[in-house]
Amino acid sequence: MRYFLLGFVLLCVLVVSVAGFRGSTSRKPPIEVFPDMDRQLKLRPQTDASFFEDGRSSRLHVPGTVARGSHFEGTPFNTGLIPGTTNGVDVIPVPVTRQMMQRGQERFQISCLPCHGALGDGNGITKKYGMAVVANLHDARIVKLPDGEIFNVITYGRGLMGAYGSNVTVEDRWAIIAYVRALQRSRLASVNDVPAEMQSMFKK
Ligand code: HEC
Repeated sequence: MRYFLLGFVLLCVLVVSVAGFRGSTSRKPPIEVFPDMDRQLKLRPQTDASFFEDGRSSRLHVPGTVARGSHFEGTPFNTGLIPGTTNGVDVIPVPVTRQMMQRGQERFQISCLPCHGALGDGNGITKKYGMAVVANLHDARIVKLPDGEIFNVITYGRGLMGAYGSNVTVEDRWAIIAYVRALQRSRLASVNDVPAEMQSMFKK
């Protein structure tokens, strides 16, 4: 009987505490068992903030801040596109230097070689593991692609090729393209690319 009474009282307390005050309002803050991160130090806009010397909570931009979507979109260097169109630029929009070419070679060998092979002919190691249809970068169609189009392929991927935009910086994409062009050129050279005095060696 004693246990029954005790149980009954506890039950009443439980029912009243759970259901009894439903819907009633209180000006007091609720009891917080786990306050989590409900209250934390922060700056409210347009208020005093003794944290800063000038007392303003709203801060000016750090010099050189670039707003998202302003500078980034629109320049051929960043998008590979002719502004206002969805067509790729024909040629790399920056001067190609020896240094850039070397960087491109290095980056190509890191990011592209496993699939496209050191020569760009599509015979990378992944072929041995079953990736049968890696593009041969010496394909006449790919040789003719505008540079901006290849930029797009690296950035967003194409067909079975994944996107490498997050792995390869914009600068490095152009450097890789320069190197891919050099690889392509290496198979397209004609006798006229040889200095005149040496051409006779090939004309036999
Ligand atoms: C994981 C393997 C893999 C890697 C790494 C890779 N590619 Fe590819 N790439 C492919 C495959 C597969 C295709 C063929 C896609 C298709 O046609 O479906 C392809 C196609 C291409 C094409 C032809 C696109 C077209 O219009 O047909 C280009 C250009 C290219 N890759 C450049 C690159 C460059 C540059 C890199 C390095 C940044 C790179 N790829 C890295 C697998 C890869």
